[in-house]
Amino acid sequence: MDKFVIKGPCKVRGQVSISGSKNSSLPILAATLLFDKPVIVQNLPRVRDVDTMLNLLKSLGSNIQFSNNKKTVKITKTKKQKQFASYSIVKTMRAGILVLGPLVAKYHKSISSFPGGCVLNGNSGRPINLHLEALKKIGMKYEIKKGYIHAKSKGKLRGSIIRFPKISVGATQQLIMSAVLGLGKFTLKGVASEPEIKDLTNFLISAGAKIKWIGKRTCQIIGVNSLRETKYSVMGDRIETGTFCVAATLAKGDLLIENFDPKLIKTELNILKKVGAKIKLFKNSIHIKGPEKIKSIRNITTKEYPGFPTDLAPQLMVLLCKASGTSSITENIFQGRFLHAMELQRLGAKIYIKNRTAKIEGNKNFIAAEVMSSDLRASAALVLAGIVSNGNTIVTRVYHCDRGYENFENKLKKIGVKIKRLK
Ligand code: EPZ
Repeated sequence: MDKFVIKGPCKVRGQVSISGSKNSSLPILAATLLFDKPVIVQNLPRVRDVDTMLNLLKSLGSNIQFSNNKKTVKITKTKKQKQFASYSIVKTMRAGILVLGPLVAKYHKSISSFPGGCVLNGNSGRPINLHLEALKKIGMKYEIKKGYIHAKSKGKLRGSIIRFPKISVGATQQLIMSAVLGLGKFTLKGVASEPEIKDLTNFLISAGAKIKWIGKRTCQIIGVNSLRETKYSVMGDRIETGTFCVAATLAKGDLLIENFDPKLIKTELNILKKVGAKIKLFKNSIHIKGPEKIKSIRNITTKEYPGFPTDLAPQLMVLLCKASGTSSITENIFQGRFLHAMELQRLGAKIYIKNRTAKIEGNKNFIAAEVMSSDLRASAALVLAGIVSNGNTIVTRVYHCDRGYENFENKLKKIGVKIKRLK
């Protein structure tokens, strides 16, 4: 398993180009199962999860042609369509569950494995009850046998009013995709409103889907018979952008972050301004200067969009370890989001966790050590910690990083970080 060695402390200078969004690419690729006609998707990030989703599509009978350094794919259906999403592929990535709805919507049957992915919820795993309950309401019948969901529908999925009891990004994506080819009107209430979901609906609308956003958390879909050919470029990665914004604030940086619309991360940028970052916004880029002194900030709580994203909490925690004074972060989305706190303590952090709140003592001087990645965003946070540690920090199991950050070490090298990958 690969590891990173980071020689700290280093400052961060220069400019970095943001890759396509992993969390937008995955549902958009799953949605290509709804098409008979060819679909071109551009600006895909070259990350492991996208490779996994493309392999899953191939196993279901999609033909994938790459171009533009594998950032563009042309997806066409072969004659042999299958509806079996195997455990061997789905176990490594939770978003694999997103093929379930499209397969039933299109082929009226599917045998899909239960999902895998980051273990962010401790022993409660990553449930999919919200997906299954909502799909049932629109006509999907299923039974679970040996870790697989055997699903089918009598013809098309049927329009209905679905009220989600809890906001879920994945369940929202699942139902939007499942409704697109359904019969009649689907009204989804209590949906997630992350920009990546808007990217998915923009993609589907570009192919003729009838989707309307009503108010903050209601989405209405009128089923259509089929979708047109389309070409669509995926939005920039919101969490990669946030990660580099934190890096610049943490390491007295002076960084221009390109290819992302700063209007989509207002909450995050406001918090970085509060801790002292100087930020200039442009149409599709952000210029951030990190402060000499980082201010502490209490009562950060992670929330569904447009609140502070859970996927940026680990990175922010590293920043707050260097702030002057005590800060706190409360995690409201996942229970297991603080796994990296123990690893940060190995570098010298002082973090006290009670229930869902982490209290972070500031002014900590990090001494390099070996630390272990536990999930995708924790891995990125440990790399950030290495940037401001004295000595050579070794971050192990960086396959977690490779799931969601394209070319991470080379992008960091280009902005002044002394990092290398050890095979
Ligand atoms: C998406 O995961 C993202 N993944 C996650 O990013 C992100 O952290 C999360 O949304 C929240 O923003 C992708 O987009 C591929 P949820 P998802 O369904 O869809 C519970 C990353 O680092 N829940 O919004 O799985 C769930 O356990 C990843 O890129 C149910 O109880 O998240 C969690 O506590 C990590 N039942 C909460 O809801 C369900 O059926 C939010 O989960 C589904 C979810």
